[in-house]
Amino acid sequence: MNQKQLVGEKAATFVEDGMIVGLGTGSTAIFMVQALAERVKNENLSIVCVSTSKATEELAVSLGLNMKDLSEVDEIDLTIDGADEISPDFHGIKGGGGALLYEKIVATNSKKNIWIVDDSKLVDTLGKFPLPVEVVPFGSEHVFRKFVEKGYQPEYRKDDADTKFVTDSGNLIIDLYLNKIEDPKTFANELKSEVGVVEHGLFIDIVDQVIAGTATGEIEVK
Ligand code: 5RP
Repeated sequence: MNQKQLVGEKAATFVEDGMIVGLGTGSTAIFMVQALAERVKNENLSIVCVSTSKATEELAVSLGLNMKDLSEVDEIDLTIDGADEISPDFHGIKGGGGALLYEKIVATNSKKNIWIVDDSKLVDTLGKFPLPVEVVPFGSEHVFRKFVEKGYQPEYRKDDADTKFVTDSGNLIIDLYLNKIEDPKTFANELKSEVGVVEHGLFIDIVDQVIAGTATGEIEVK
């Protein structure tokens, strides 16, 4: 079994009857959603789920999970999501699937956040993975140019048709090829202060627990 499936299935066992559960986005989260739907059926669990993307919403509905909008629920008990990079101090980069804005909104309204990753996502320093920045389309070229001037090596995210990728909330994504982010907290604040930036993929002090795969096929819960 591959690492993503292993950690996805493991994470689904952390859900308890009666919980409000945030469902992440991406290939690892898909395994978790599938395993959770199985548990709900087999164990007759009564849970409410909130999605972090249209893609996950469609999958969860197709599997019969009870879905609600974030605004319809009180605080989420547990959100389980994937990640693109995690540093030893539990900061991370997310947004490889373009869902960073809804993922961060759901995560920051959750009592507990678990990230599920294969071992390639555990890094010493964040930044090898291009940092996604979600920007308003209006005037985005100006934000893009500022990133060029600052040496952040920006590139617009493209979709399969080679046109600009549009997020679930109608925005664009600019990926920053930084290689290394020495001070993620300061950099997060800098990005947030740029008018036109809606959100960025640095998740600082958000995750509580990490379930990671290992090369030998075991699971590490940190
Ligand atoms: C989507 C995300 C994903 O959680 C992240 O990209 C990891 O994806 P995968 O599980 O497919 O490797 O942040 O916006």
